[in-house]
Amino acid sequence: MIKDFNHYVPVRVVFGAGKLNEAGKYAAKYGSKALIVTTGSFFKEIGLVDRLINILKESGVDSEYYHDVSPNPLSTEIDAGAELGRKTGCEVVIGLGGGSAIDAAKGMAIAMGHNEPIWDFCPAGPVVKQPTDKTYPIIAITTTSGTGSHISPFSVITNPETDQKPGMGSDFIYPRVGIVDPELMLSMPKEITAATGFDVLAHSIEAYTSKIASPMSDIYAEEAIRLVGRYLRKAVTEGNDLEARSAMAYADTLAGFAMSLAINTICHGLSHAVGGISGTVHGETLAAMTPHTMRFSMNQDPEKYKKIGLLLRDETCEQVISEFTPEDAIQEVEKLIKDIGLDIPLSKQGVEEADLERIADAAFEYMSGAFDLDLRTPTREDIINILRASF
Ligand SMILES: [Fe+2]
Repeated sequence: MIKDFNHYVPVRVVFGAGKLNEAGKYAAKYGSKALIVTTGSFFKEIGLVDRLINILKESGVDSEYYHDVSPNPLSTEIDAGAELGRKTGCEVVIGLGGGSAIDAAKGMAIAMGHNEPIWDFCPAGPVVKQPTDKTYPIIAITTTSGTGSHISPFSVITNPETDQKPGMGSDFIYPRVGIVDPELMLSMPKEITAATGFDVLAHSIEAYTSKIASPMSDIYAEEAIRLVGRYLRKAVTEGNDLEARSAMAYADTLAGFAMSLAINTICHGLSHAVGGISGTVHGETLAAMTPHTMRFSMNQDPEKYKKIGLLLRDETCEQVISEFTPEDAIQEVEKLIKDIGLDIPLSKQGVEEADLERIADAAFEYMSGAFDLDLRTPTREDIINILRASF
């Protein structure tokens, strides 16, 4: 019997080497002026922003450029970008970069469209407004293989005054178009390749073991896990290998679908609070905690947890399959973490032991929805134990 499900991910995915050249064609469908958003000025310095501006111009689309976005995008930066977009008459927002740039673009599309501060829409305060169809159209051009943000209806925004880093979700921030051009990923540094690549695995594992996982989200998650097992090490060590880059970009896209459908669970919920308070790198934080969140939940569905390890190994040997255990699967994840240089406990990521209790409280305050989707609902003590084990 097939489990009931609901499948809605309305993103046109344009995938392939050189597909950046089609950005103008798609942007022109949504307006005559685009706000291009990047994280910092690196893409301006290497000429990528100018290349995009010219591609847009060829299709009759003018642009404004905003780069004042932190790796963990701040609500204040998003409001300033939205103000620029509003003042200059932009009609479509293009996020060019990793999850930070795309999440910021999503936030700006909401703030611009409603002419209100973005924090009013973030699920951390007492009253949370819902985005509407006033939200401007978003085009996501991903330059990393990790965050799935080019597919998802989620945006993660940090409030610098409160250190809160909630994830918001709305159908109105699904990008209209997600452009995935693996050529843009060839020069991604090793550390970012590893951290964003692990994020793909975490999205897949958590969507795969979510309470609302479905037959269709499982298909996306399983193939993404298999591709990570096969290609992430190579993408890290041989960054200019287009086959490995392309496979990871595809895995990221599949994981984005899995995450949009089945959401994420404990590890992502907790990682937001860690990142909000300690300013850590998302993928590194996930790598420190994933083995422990897996161990916490594995007995709720041993077969699925076992399958994660078998997919990572792309294992076909009948004997290995029959003797494999969920703990073996976790060790497979730990091996991958070591191999890609992400064996970094939270204590070495700038997390203070004195902050663990505060992190746990923050996670329950605004990310408990993710905890509720886990097969095993954690108590506050469970969360503290996971944090300590990852410390
Ligand atoms: Fe993530």
